[in-house]
Amino acid sequence: MLKIKSNKILIDTMRIPKHIAIIMDGNGRWAKKNGMNRHQGHKEGVISVHEIIKAACEIGVKYLTIYAFSIENWNRPVEEVNILMNLITTIIKHEADELIKNNIRLQIIGDISRLSQTFQNNVNDCIKKTAKNNGLILLLALSYSSRWEIIEAVRHIVNDVKNNQLNVKDINENVFSSYLATKNIPDPDLLIRTGGECRISNYLLWQIAYTELYFSNVYWPEFGKENFYEAIYNFQRRERRFGKTSDQIQNKH
Ligand code: FPP
Repeated sequence: MLKIKSNKILIDTMRIPKHIAIIMDGNGRWAKKNGMNRHQGHKEGVISVHEIIKAACEIGVKYLTIYAFSIENWNRPVEEVNILMNLITTIIKHEADELIKNNIRLQIIGDISRLSQTFQNNVNDCIKKTAKNNGLILLLALSYSSRWEIIEAVRHIVNDVKNNQLNVKDINENVFSSYLATKNIPDPDLLIRTGGECRISNYLLWQIAYTELYFSNVYWPEFGKENFYEAIYNFQRRERRFGKTSDQIQNKH
C-alpha cells in the first residue's frame, strides 16, 4: 500500500477522498491579526488556494470544490465586493495557461448572470480552454448558494413536468441531483472549513448529506499543504456508515 509521509502522519493513497469541498474562511481575521486590511487577507488567501490545488493534484483528488463567493457575500460593503471580484477576475484571466499545464479542468457553479459580461466571457473562455483536461476537476462556487441552486432545480423540474419532458412519478434523488449545478459530479466525501466557525453557510446542502465534515481553527491564509493532509488523515480514520451499522460496513453480517 502506497503511503504519503507528511510530518508524523501517514496518508493512505489508496483511500484519498475523491471529492473534497472547501469553505475558505478567516481571510479578514487573519489580516486583522497581522495589522493588515481585509484586501490583503484575500490576496494572501489566493496563495493558499494555489497551494491546496497543487496538493490536491499531487495526492490524486479528482474533484475539488472551493467556495470563492457566496450569494450572501454580495451583501458585503461594495468596496470589498469589488476587491474580491477584481481578484477573482484577475486569477481566472491569468490562470488559464497554468490550469492547462497542470491538466486541471475548471467548472463553475453559481449564478454568474449577476457578474459583469466581461467577467462571464473570461470565465466561459477559461472553461472552454480547460474542457479537455482530464486531471483534477476544479469547481469554483461563485455567486453560489445552495438554496438558490435548489430553487433553480425545482423551477426546471416544474417546467419539464409542464412540458411533458418529465413524469412526476419518475422524480427521485438521482433525477433531482441531475437538475443541480453539480450534475454528474459525485457528492463530496470530505468538507473542510477553515477559520474556526462550525457552520455550513448555505454550501452544497443537498450534496453533503453523507459528507464527512472537518473544521479547522486555522485561518485560510495560513492553511497549507500540511493542514490539508491532516484533514485527509483525519478523514481516513473515520468509518463512513451511510446509515448502516458498523458490523455491516466491516462485512461481519
Ligand atoms: C472568507 O473569508 C473568504 C472569502 C469570502 C473569499 C475568499 C476568496 C478568495 C481567497 C479568492 C479565491 C479566488 C479564486 C478564483 C479561487 P472572510 O472574509 O469571511 O474572513 P473573516 O471571516 O475572517 O472575515
